[in-house]
Amino acid sequence: MTKTNWAKIDEILNGKKNGKTVSLRGWIYRTRSSGNIVFAIIRDSTGILQATIKKGNLPDKEFEDAKKALIESSLEVKGLVKEDKRAPGGYELQVTSANIINFAEPFPIVKDQSPEFLLDQRHLWIRSQYISSILKIRSTIVGAIHKFFRDRGYYEFDAPVLQPNQCEGGSTLFEVKYYENKTYLSQSWQLYAEAAVFALEKIYNMGPTFRAEKSKTSRHLSEFWMAEMEAAWMDLHDVTEVAKEEVKFILQEVLKHNKNELEILGQDIKKLEKISKSKFPTITYTEAIKILKEKEKMKVEWGKDLRTIEEDKLLKHFGTPVVVTNYPSEIMAFYKPSDPKDPKTALCFDMIAPEGYGEIVGGSQRSLDVKEMTKRLKEMGEKIDNYEWYFDLRRYGSIPHSGYGLGVERVVAWICGIDNIKDSIPFPRTLLRYKP
Ligand code: 4AD
Ligand code: MG
Repeated sequence: MTKTNWAKIDEILNGKKNGKTVSLRGWIYRTRSSGNIVFAIIRDSTGILQATIKKGNLPDKEFEDAKKALIESSLEVKGLVKEDKRAPGGYELQVTSANIINFAEPFPIVKDQSPEFLLDQRHLWIRSQYISSILKIRSTIVGAIHKFFRDRGYYEFDAPVLQPNQCEGGSTLFEVKYYENKTYLSQSWQLYAEAAVFALEKIYNMGPTFRAEKSKTSRHLSEFWMAEMEAAWMDLHDVTEVAKEEVKFILQEVLKHNKNELEILGQDIKKLEKISKSKFPTITYTEAIKILKEKEKMKVEWGKDLRTIEEDKLLKHFGTPVVVTNYPSEIMAFYKPSDPKDPKTALCFDMIAPEGYGEIVGGSQRSLDVKEMTKRLKEMGEKIDNYEWYFDLRRYGSIPHSGYGLGVERVVAWICGIDNIKDSIPFPRTLLRYKP
């Protein structure tokens, strides 16, 4: 038996197969027929292609089957590739053989359906050009993050998902029964990373992260992927620079590999190119408050965390992501140290994306002061025993170190220019949704 040489649609659209006979397999994306001709759009993982199936050009039974086949039926076709300006992508396939692999039932997704319906049908909606373009970009972003850190000598380091401690506050923990005890799903890789920098110095990780977020916003997921880094000897300034470089590298990789997908999503490629070459500014929280008060005439109080609306207004004054440092100590996680030069503020930072995408990175220098951290944890009602292992890190060769976490879905949403973070992950988990 000879092995079929299956072509992919992108090779055809590249013009490489013009005038040649090819075999192709995929799914029917759209179809309409009139009398003795069927116009089908076929899709595979690489694109969509118009196929013209004419009675007489293929065995009658195959023609009748092709005419009957509904959208999302899977099939194999063979035909001649012809340049045709009118066809989407500029090429069409003149079919000489069609073999339906599976006759699909009437597809539940038709035009103009509500976002909730599409989320119920996510297992099918994932095939759409919209979601699959986002997923391709997501894949590039995930690859870029690994490449960024590995090329710079970071080790990939894994932390447990089941953890006895909180990292980012008790109110968003998911509790898991653990035999006779209880643990929590990881809110962050950080505390374990802080143990590992004594062995590996520069480390990173990307993995599922869990937060029982009680809010229903377009920025929050209950399960999301965080890409974190932690490095010995680095201070706040050092890690903000790494974060800026990382985000620019991610953008450049997407621009290199996914122009096609960005176009399908209607994203402004020129704008992203400009951002990828720009310098990202760093300002302090206090400066941010000043901008909001003076330029936006907002009533904002020094001491409160920046809310979504404030972040959005602030970013109107910049064309790129912005790093904001030195938030008020009081509202920050227990491990963020006070800045000796301005003790009311912490040595921490957020990177905020433009156009309403909000905080994409959060990080800090790490406190080395066991007394201070104990006090903060006690105020939060934490059992100090659970943190003794963490305090040991300050007892045996303590060093300055810093790190941050980047929200993968926030970055995907921003780069793709999509309305809701739910579309940046294949199967979103939120306050109201854990299916399918
Ligand atoms: O700012 P966060 O909470 O920082 C930490 O967890 C640190 N322990 C990280 C570190 O220093 N290693 O979270 C980091 C980022 C945020 O900036 C945001 O982009 C994203 O994770 N993030 C979320 N993304 C989607 N849904 C949520 N519920 C998120 N919570 C945080
Ligand atoms: Mg944060």
